[in-house]
Formats: sequence, C-alpha cells, structure tokens
Amino acid sequence: MPFTTDDPNMLDDWLVVGPSTTLAGTSDVHPRTTRLLGETLHVWSNGSGAPQCRLGTQTLAVQSRYGYLWVCPSGKPTRPLFDFPEYGEQGRRMVDCGSIGVAVSGLRVIENFLDMAHFPFVHAGFLGKVPHTEVAKYQVQVDPATQEIWATDCRFWQPRASAAHDSGAEVTYKYRVMQPLTAMLYKSSHRAGELDAIALFLQPLDDERVIAHTLLACYDDTSTDAELIAFQQTIFGQDKPILENHAFKRMPLEGRAETPTRGDTTSVTYRRWLRERGMRFGVRQAA
Ligand SMILES: [Fe+2]
Repeated sequence: MPFTTDDPNMLDDWLVVGPSTTLAGTSDVHPRTTRLLGETLHVWSNGSGAPQCRLGTQTLAVQSRYGYLWVCPSGKPTRPLFDFPEYGEQGRRMVDCGSIGVAVSGLRVIENFLDMAHFPFVHAGFLGKVPHTEVAKYQVQVDPATQEIWATDCRFWQPRASAAHDSGAEVTYKYRVMQPLTAMLYKSSHRAGELDAIALFLQPLDDERVIAHTLLACYDDTSTDAELIAFQQTIFGQDKPILENHAFKRMPLEGRAETPTRGDTTSVTYRRWLRERGMRFGVRQAA
C-alpha cells in the first residue's frame, strides 16, 4: 500500500477528495489531481460521466455522492458511505460553502466542530456572546445500528446564528459524527420545526493537514448563496488560526489534561469512540 498510513480506519473507508463539479471537462488524458494520505491521485469522469480515480497505474474505488467524490484507498470498504437524507430533500437549499486548508490533524477539527463552549469566545457576536457562556446539559449516545455518535438536546443562546438571523435567539443543535473525519450539525432554521443541516467533510492530506469542505442543506428564502458562503467562511476563519496554533498538531487520545466539564461530553465520547476503533491516523502517540 503506497499511502503514508496503514490505519484501516482510513484505508478501508470512503474518504472525500473534493466536489464532484471539479470533474467537469476532465478525461483520462486530462484528469484533475488531488491529494490524499500523502499521495497524489488523478480523478476524472469517463464518457458516461462516471467518476474514475487512479494512483499511479493503480485504479481506486470512487463514487460521487452528496455532491462530493469519495475514494476508498484499499478498495475494500468495510461499510457503505453514511446516509445524508437531507441532501437534495425537497424545500432545502444545497449550498457548497467551499474548501479551506487547515494545518492540523482532522481529528482536532472535528472535535472543535462538536464543541459549543468556545462559541462566546471564538465566535463572539455570531454564535455566542459573553455572559451567555453556559453549555446546558445535553445527551450523547452512539447509535448501535450505525455506530454514529449523536449529541442531542443541545441549546445555546446565539446573537447571530446564521446568515438569515439578525437578532439573538436560543438555538437548538444536534450533532452527528458519521466517520472519524466527517460530521453534521443540525440547528434551528427559519422554518418552524425544521433544522438546517451543515455537513463538514474533511479530506486528509496527511496526519497533520486537511482540506475542510462544508456543505449546507438549509431552509433560507432570503439570503443569497454568497451571503451563506461568506457566513460559513467567516465562522471557519475564526476557528482556523486557533486550530493551527495547537502545540501538538496531532490529537492525544490517552486521558485529558483538562478536567472534563459538562460541555465536554461530546468530546469525551468522540475520543473514546476513536480509541475503541484503534484510531492511529492523526493521533499523537503517548511518549
Ligand atoms: Fe468554532
């Protein structure tokens, strides 16, 4: 196996390598190149529009789902790609919010995505505001059928929860972790009783660098695509320098230096879930 990791959590799963739209105009003689696990892949669409992928002379398994390309490095996926039932659902807007490089382990990016406690400090004026700093009690469980992590009943007071909000509101959240490097956030939308979905798909370039792809499946009849994209990029731009300033780019899974607080429940579950599957990729090994 030519890839820079032998972790089956990466090799035997479906990993994102960018939006499907990037295959427009490609062919086997004019492929697009992309990076995955330390290697350069060639991707293109054949005469009938099906995605193809190659590493050197080796053909890799690839599929196009949810507007993105997914590659299984070993060609032997242990399970199908996760479900994303909100994608393309009637009444929802699908907005690709673009791709941002982040120089840190993808595990840290997902952990940060799951963390509400940083909202009033890192996203002040948008997703939180002092003195509204309390993370109320919420539920976390692993779905026995899918092995996905779900955090439910999350609530947080937000001054400007989305591009469509111009005043403060208590916002309801649900988080879902489908794979070590993919997660979804569901939050109160402008349509009563419905939740917007925000997908975070991380493309692992290596143990310490990812490309973060974000995709909205939302209810919003007022904002333009540009406004929705600008909002997501503003939020991500606030997280990026903090993520990249970690003293250790890789995430430790053994114990925690900080005392866990209630707001950390999802993080504790995520780290345990990674330990239980023997995650090594992107992990800082104990000295
Ligand atoms: Fe954040």
